[in-house]
Amino acid sequence: MIIRNILSDLDKNDIYNLWVKYLNKVPDHQTIGAPSARQAEFLKEYLTKVKKILELKTGYKLSERFTIIREYKKGDFMKKHIDNAAPFAVTIVIKQSDSKDNPLVFYNTEPETIILKEGDGYCFWGMEVPHERLAVQSDYLLHVYFGYSVADKLISISGKYNKQIL
Ligand SMILES: [Fe+2]
Repeated sequence: MIIRNILSDLDKNDIYNLWVKYLNKVPDHQTIGAPSARQAEFLKEYLTKVKKILELKTGYKLSERFTIIREYKKGDFMKKHIDNAAPFAVTIVIKQSDSKDNPLVFYNTEPETIILKEGDGYCFWGMEVPHERLAVQSDYLLHVYFGYSVADKLISISGKYNKQIL
């Protein structure tokens, strides 16, 4: 499910500026060498803000688990994988240098290609649906990954969460 403008222009700009100033960037191991940060303190408030939006949209009770911020350049990619950080995730475009398409592919029963614009988020079951990033076309692309778990209470009530909602 794509959620348009899940972050406001103000939030996107704040995250971008905080990232530019951030001193603990490390080369990523999934997109080899891409500057990245896991569990950066400055993203916590946005993890919470987005959680509230996702809870309203999905009806799930979510718990905050993990953040990644990653800066891509043209040609960067991420090979097909499943996640190990959190079962339920959203990937959000924070900054893009142009309007080129930067496809993500999600392997549901049929492969689905997703194109996101700045501020858009795509929710997915990251531990179950294999996904990949095809070669980035933009010169600069900044994304965040926010990971959540679905609260045990809700699962115990319903037996199993409804994956069809996405
Ligand atoms: Fe992933």
